Amino acid sequence: MQSKIPLTFEMVKSDLRVNTFLQETDAKLKRMGYTDHGLRHAKIVSARCRLIAQKLGLTSVEIEYASIAGYCHDIGNFIDRSQHFIWGSLLFHHIFGEKVDDLNGLAQIMQAIASHDHEYDCFDNKTSAILIIADKSDVHRDRVAIKDLEKIKTDIHDRVNYAVYDNNLEIDPIKKRINFSIKLDTKFTQIMDYFAIFIERMTYCQKGADFLGYKFNLRINEFDFS
Ligand SMILES: [Fe+2]
Ligand SMILES: [Fe+2]
Repeated sequence: MQSKIPLTFEMVKSDLRVNTFLQETDAKLKRMGYTDHGLRHAKIVSARCRLIAQKLGLTSVEIEYASIAGYCHDIGNFIDRSQHFIWGSLLFHHIFGEKVDDLNGLAQIMQAIASHDHEYDCFDNKTSAILIIADKSDVHRDRVAIKDLEKIKTDIHDRVNYAVYDNNLEIDPIKKRINFSIKLDTKFTQIMDYFAIFIERMTYCQKGADFLGYKFNLRINEFDFS
């Protein structure tokens, strides 16, 4: 009988199924006209999860959980976009449930994947709160798949993402603040367009920060919205 192994980020990021599901997700969502949800997004969200967990002073095991959740959170999109968070959570269990004996880690990551979108607001662990902030803060022109500027202008998600040319997330453990700053090209889109599509996501980030005992501050072009 095969012996069980711990749940590590190294193991997850080199898993053939995880990477294939990410590729399938990216291909499907690009065909549907969405921004990047593939390897680029997975790596950025995972690295951001790791950074937040480290700054919060979490244990090395909790940092691994956050990195794993960040990498895998969108793997369910190739099955179904509208419920991708639930599919992703179950897929994660399907891939790793029999391989690992860290059931607590498995459960925490499953919950984080299931609750990363505000449509399914049900989280009550730190991994989930961290993932929400890391995921919803990945807004940048590099996420826009199409390159035709005239076409980009016709879609609000593409337009707003493309207008963001700088993006920074800072965790201040002394002041207990999470500062998310973006620079938005207002010649390309209005700040109101950003709020039109991101207000629920930013409110969800605020809820995630609140769970972690932090205040969430959004800064757009040097203006603060706390
Ligand atoms: Fe997602
Ligand atoms: Fe995502």
